[in-house]
This record gives sequence, C-alpha cells and structure tokens, in this order.
Amino acid sequence: MNTNSCTMIIFGATGDLTLRKLIPAIHQLKWGGYLPEDFNLVAIGRKPKDDAEYRENLLDGMKTLTNILVEQSTWDYISERIHYFKMDFSEDGEYERLHAYLEKNKKENNFSSNYLFYLAVAPDKFGFIVKNLKEKNISSENGNWSRLVIEKPFGENLQTAYDLNDEIAKAFNEENIYRIDHYLAKEMIQNITMLRFQNTIFEPLWRNTYIDNIQISVLEKDGVGSRGGYYDQTGALRDMVQNHLLQTLAITAMEPPASLGADDMRDSKVKLMSELVLFDPGKSKTDVIFGQYEGYHNETGIAEDSETETFAALKLFIDNPRWKGVPFYLVTGKKLSEKSAQVTIQFKNPAVCNASGKSNPIYELTPNSCANILEIKIQPREGIHLRLNTKKPAVEDQSVVAEMEYCQSCQYSFNTPDAYEKLILDVIKGDSTRFTRWDELALSWYFIDSIDKKSVPLVSYKDESEGPQEADLLLKRDDRTWWFKEKIKRGES
Ligand code: BG6
Repeated sequence: MNTNSCTMIIFGATGDLTLRKLIPAIHQLKWGGYLPEDFNLVAIGRKPKDDAEYRENLLDGMKTLTNILVEQSTWDYISERIHYFKMDFSEDGEYERLHAYLEKNKKENNFSSNYLFYLAVAPDKFGFIVKNLKEKNISSENGNWSRLVIEKPFGENLQTAYDLNDEIAKAFNEENIYRIDHYLAKEMIQNITMLRFQNTIFEPLWRNTYIDNIQISVLEKDGVGSRGGYYDQTGALRDMVQNHLLQTLAITAMEPPASLGADDMRDSKVKLMSELVLFDPGKSKTDVIFGQYEGYHNETGIAEDSETETFAALKLFIDNPRWKGVPFYLVTGKKLSEKSAQVTIQFKNPAVCNASGKSNPIYELTPNSCANILEIKIQPREGIHLRLNTKKPAVEDQSVVAEMEYCQSCQYSFNTPDAYEKLILDVIKGDSTRFTRWDELALSWYFIDSIDKKSVPLVSYKDESEGPQEADLLLKRDDRTWWFKEKIKRGES
C-alpha cells in the first residue's frame, strides 16, 4: 500500500477543528518526519480567500489557539502544499468544479490520486458530501485509495446512525471509512491494552473474583462555549457517553483479543458492546442521573426552556461470566471544578480490612478504602497509580497506604503525540485499529437508546462544582464513593 503519497481534502477548512487540530497535526507530522513525501492539502471552505490569506489564518491560529511551537522551515514546507478551494459543498453543481480542479492538479502539479477526504463539517452535511463524491467520480478507487474520515457525532440514535451509514456505504467500503473517536488515540487509553495484556500480574485479576467495581470519569471545566447550538440538541449522554466513555469501557473490559490488529481488537469490543446492560432496564430511572449546570441557560445558542443534560452519571453491568455482578460507574459533565479523565479499578477488600480496617484512621475516607486501587490517568496528567497497603515502620503493627505513581507525562513531556497526529497517520497508512467499526457503533447506540431519557429527572448543579449530589447517591446506595471526588478532596491531580 502506498503511504508515500496523499492528497488530503478537508471539507470545513475554515472551522475550529481544522485550525486547532488538523493543521497543527500536519505540522507535527512533517516535523517528526512522518508526512508522506508527496503530500498536498486541498482546504475547502465557503468564504472567499486566496491561498496567501488562508495560510496566514492557519499560522495565526496555530500560534494563538494551540501550544504548538511552530518551526519555520516545517511551516514553509507545508504551507506551500496547502491550497484553498472556495466551494459551497451543499451545492450539487460545485462537485464538478472540484473534480476538474483535482484532475487538473494531478496532471499539472502531480497531486497524488490517493485521496483522504476529511469531513470536518456539521453532521447533517455528511450524507450529501459523500453522495456527491461518489456520483461525480471523485472518490473512485482505480488502483489508488480513497478514504473517508468522519468526525462524530455519527447519528443521533440508532436509526439515524443506520441511515447515515447506509448513505456512506453506497460510496465507500467499510474498510475505507474511518469514524473518529479521538479518545481511542489518547496515549493512556492505548496504554490500557498494554497494561492488561503485557503484564502477567494484571490479567488474571481482571475479573469479578478480584474486582469490586470500575469507574470511568471524564470531567470538563469548560461549559459548552461556542458550541451551544450543537450541544443543546445532543447532551452529555450522546456527546460523550455513547462514544468516548463506552469506547474506554470496551477497551478496559473486553476479552483479550486474538491479536492487537484492527479486526481482532474490534471484534472483542463488539462482543463487549453487545453485553452491556443497565442493571435493571425497568428501573433505569434510578441508575442514571442527569444534571444541568446553573449557568447553562445563559450560554449562547441554548433554548430558553432547554432540558438538555450537561452531566450524566450511570451504573451499568456487563452480562458475561468475567464481569457478572461488577458495577461499572460512568460519569461525565461540563462546567465542573476540574478537567480530568481516569479509569479507576477498585479491587475487593482484603479479608483483614473487613476485620479491622474500618477503625484505622487511614481508612476514614470511605468504608472501602483499604481496597487496592489501580488508576489509569488519562488526562491532564498521564500515568498509572497503584495503591497498596503496607506496614508502617513502627513498633506497633499498623498499616499505611503506599501510593505508587508512574507519571508518564513527567517522563515523556516532550511532544507526546496528539490524538490527531496519530489518527491522520493511521488513515494514510490504512490502519483502522483506532477507529470505530460500524457494528460496534451500532451496538453502542443500541445501548444508549435503551436508556429512557424522559424518565430521568434533570437536576441542577452549581457551576464549577463536583456535579449534583444525586450522583453521589448512586454509589452511596452501594456503599461506595466516586474515586475522582476522593482525589479532589486530597488535592491530587
Ligand atoms: C468532544 C465533545 O468529542 O470531546 C466535546 O464533543 C468535549 O463536548 C470533547 O469537550 C472532550 O475532549 P477532550 O479531548 O478535551 O477530553
């Protein structure tokens, strides 16, 4: 497969994603020596601009909106290969012009015929663009490759996801469709696979015999910002849980795949997704909490009477022998007191803790806290934390908690690749391991659709708080607490 030549065609080239993520990723790929030798980028936008003005906007954006250190010779190299193409992509007729433009540049400027189409546009445009790429023969594959990258959200529920998939499947084979979930490219999420399958000490314990519960929390400090229009129609369950949290859960809990290749990994995730159950679908009301931050209605683009959830917490189970009886607690929300993401594996209490641990002041924080904890820190600090019980060096026999910390971001702080660098490179190489396949996506929607949103009351929470108190009850009922809250209490990052 030729990975040394590619024409990347971005729809939505003046949007935020292009400015903040895609162009910086291209810069970093070139800087690291990973960009194909024969590379051109056609940036499609509606605003009238020439190449010079567009390139200037990109450079400004990189300098002001990102923390990338722009390297002059790298920028000079890529900016020469970025070409602005003004086009209204919601007009049928415009695609003939695009076709002619690409053909001309193939002949005159040696643009590669390997096309990477990147749809950084509103989801309601996906179907139309793809249909036209097919009908105007822009995506034909004769000897070269044409790959389609689609940002989320992929549908709003199972039905709309099906409809969208049907449309896309008319133009692209599944193996050429790259559905982005940028969490799959986060370093520590990939590290979960490594941790589980490359350390013999963990895999034997990775089951209900030893694990008490697993918590996945993805918290955000920011509110909806400029994305109110989209977010108000979407909410936390569909914006975050359906994709990022369920994918993280699948990687954490899936059966060991036959290999770490794209198909085997995704087969394992599919099996897992098909086993997700709400504790008791009839009682889903009590196992799902929705919250909305107090200042939400003052944000731009939010309906006056909006009941969209900006916070979601839920308890779910995995219906297989490995995980029978182990609750998985998921939580995500905006406008919280901190931005952080982590997976916490709480092991079962040792017998000795049940006998005397509760009276030990070290264990005051929670009744369960003499359990070993393995925490995978996804962001902002990346690393692994293991909590062990050890003997305090003293005459009396007293135990003390030893916190063992691997701080990955301290060790590799220089240029740990951003998700988008990896994802774009994966598409160029034709490796879809870090992208969601249609069957796993459909199953994740099936699960989300099984939650009866209307039956879940919406509670309010203070801006910059730790979310609604109702979320604590979800765990308190089970004699447990949120690990992320314990960390906040102790001032840990
Ligand atoms: C996006 C959501 O997919 O992920 C946003 O649409 C959210 O609402 C973002 O803010 C969070 O990503 P990250 O990488 O900042 O945790």
